[in-house]
Amino acid sequence: MLPANLKLTDNPGPYLNLFLQKGGYNKIAVLTDENTVKHCYPLIQPHLPEHVVITVNSGEEFKTLQTCAHIWEQMTDLAMDRHAVLLVLGGGVLGDMGGFCAATYKRGIDFILMPTTLLAMADASIGGKLGIDFRHFKNHIGLFKEPVLTLIHSGFLKTLSQNELRSGFAEVIKHALISDRTLWNELRSKSLEEQPWDVLLRHSAEFKSSVVQQDPTEKGLRKILNAGHTIGHALESYFLKSGNRILHGEAVAAGLIAEAFIAKNQNLITDEEIGQIAAYILKVYGKLGLHEKDYAQIAALCIQDKKNRGNTVLAVLPEGIGKARWDCAVSEEEIVGALAFYNTLQI
Ligand code: GLY
Repeated sequence: MLPANLKLTDNPGPYLNLFLQKGGYNKIAVLTDENTVKHCYPLIQPHLPEHVVITVNSGEEFKTLQTCAHIWEQMTDLAMDRHAVLLVLGGGVLGDMGGFCAATYKRGIDFILMPTTLLAMADASIGGKLGIDFRHFKNHIGLFKEPVLTLIHSGFLKTLSQNELRSGFAEVIKHALISDRTLWNELRSKSLEEQPWDVLLRHSAEFKSSVVQQDPTEKGLRKILNAGHTIGHALESYFLKSGNRILHGEAVAAGLIAEAFIAKNQNLITDEEIGQIAAYILKVYGKLGLHEKDYAQIAALCIQDKKNRGNTVLAVLPEGIGKARWDCAVSEEEIVGALAFYNTLQI
């Protein structure tokens, strides 16, 4: 069962139209970036009541206070008040930032998230995490607030490059691995191109929203959604520092393998299970090249993770396939061992 503010639809225009009419909003602004205004906005534009479009630059490097200031200025110039609504048409970055702008403007106005990337549909647009980056820290300033509606339309996936699809797919793999063995077996029998997106998106929406309902502010259970992300984030930062940016999904996918290796050594999963995980992920993502001399540096980056307590790295580890546990203390040696394991895998 999906919560009332989460809807998957084949026909987003008419649904939005009805929702906005019912909401009785006195002003509607649509927040887009240069890609979504071109590829996604035309699909909904004929169905929207009178509205104004605000466009900002796409990309993580624009998830800043400066872009927020630009959005708040536009909202102010449009004289938007508390009866206005902001409809955010974009991926994870725009959803987090647009939602943050709406949730703080005049102490909060309604906002709608309409995710346009796989990552945003399967993960970022569900669960009310909003925010922006600050200095070099990701999502450093933000809050939890639910949109009045998240409207998921898988048709937008056709507007994405293969790389964007692959990046979001890691979150879908993560959801299957930590919640549903049967789904994992179906998923791993198909290539990226063959996946039944509507089925997978419904599963992600149901699973994630049920976790979020039980633990909205990530005191416990919600932490399982960070599977693959402890080592994944460290790999992302490592490659970024070396001037060789990788996709978030590539990092998370490699993180899922490395963390599964730690789970195997802690007798939480079998040799066969880690074999399955590694084989499928490598087939979809290929392998990141790591230098042995950098393992310790990557392990040290894991200590920066938000989920840790003090200097203890706390990770999410799979317990078989379809289940996971969180707050698992993991040593630097275990992380180094997991990176070495990953690096010696054969494609
Ligand atoms: N992306 C993980 C979460 O929303 O909690």
